[in-house]
Amino acid sequence: MQFESNKSLTQLNTLGFSQLAEHYIEVDSDDMLNEVIEHANRQDWPVFILGGGSNIVLTKDIPGLVIKLSSETLAYENRAEENSWKFRLTASAGTNWHRLVRDSMSRGIPGLENLSLIPGSTGAAPIQNIGAYGVELADRFESLRALHLKTNEWHTFDLSACEFGYRDSYFKRHSGEFCVTSVNLMIGNDKPFETGYASLKQALEQVDADQLTPVLISDTVCKIRQSKLPDPAQLCNAGSFFHNPVVSQQVYEELKLKTPNIVAYPQDEERVKLAAGWLIDSIGLRGTRRGAVGVYDKQALVMVHHGGGTGEQLLAYADEIRAAVKDKYGVTLTMEPMIV
Ligand code: EPU
Repeated sequence: MQFESNKSLTQLNTLGFSQLAEHYIEVDSDDMLNEVIEHANRQDWPVFILGGGSNIVLTKDIPGLVIKLSSETLAYENRAEENSWKFRLTASAGTNWHRLVRDSMSRGIPGLENLSLIPGSTGAAPIQNIGAYGVELADRFESLRALHLKTNEWHTFDLSACEFGYRDSYFKRHSGEFCVTSVNLMIGNDKPFETGYASLKQALEQVDADQLTPVLISDTVCKIRQSKLPDPAQLCNAGSFFHNPVVSQQVYEELKLKTPNIVAYPQDEERVKLAAGWLIDSIGLRGTRRGAVGVYDKQALVMVHHGGGTGEQLLAYADEIRAAVKDKYGVTLTMEPMIV
């Protein structure tokens, strides 16, 4: 086992903040992970599992051991049923998420097209229950395998054990307890295409229903994302920086009286989800900047790092934005990425 010391994490977090890992190792198998965890526990090193680094804000150097899972394997098992063909797709945690989506597309298997081009690794996908254009991971999830870091024992989590919610899961709420090493998805033609999300619906307006294919939807989602969301390789960011806040129907109606063009999506009879990007945009903060950090000019829900800044500076600006939204609308925004 070769541990690196004082490893720079600049290239390993998509916000590009220059923090160090006290110790660092890349792990490519379950057995190696057991050995590494045994060593870390013996040394009393706290352990931090790094995925694609696309949903974290580093505000300090990370003490103890940072582990990156490097294995990228995909396996399909035919689970066809009488009236549908289905596959169980097993992917190791280190697999790039978009690579997994495109691999299933290239085999013509529907299911993951709406989740195209989401940055990050497959192991991180269940942590925040990634979602886009009307589909979230939970809708295609079967189970996952994870190592309990304290006891070094393996566990299997099914859908209900993961306690998925909107950008939320058991693992997000119990951060640092488990390391996810592989994910099982169930995909196939048993579910209809999901094309109802406003921007996707509009982009597919000219396409007849019988012309729709997973690849066409995936390509369309990629185009929409590329037009609104910055590529971390060009401009450092961590995707949506705030959750879309969910408010009661009554709060929504009061807001709508004052601001008739507010963008919102009904959740159920009692709750409404507000578009946080719209709230931030409407108070003129889209495209603004505080030194090295700022708000993306095409999507106000995305905070960006122009280089040479720190996680603390980003959080300070995020607090200003939250205060401005609270002041104008009385709504509290919560941050989506994990603050480290
Ligand atoms: N809007 C504005 N101004 C802005 C940004 C948005 O007016 O600056 C309006 C849009 O015009 C639209 C509404 O707000 O009417 C929603 O915008 P959009 O469709 O871009 O989606 P979002 O709610 O801002 C969410 C997810 C994204 C996901 C998209 C598409 C969250 C926190 N974010 O964004 O997820 O890709 O929907 O499904 O739920 C991520 O989690 O990192 C992420 C990018």
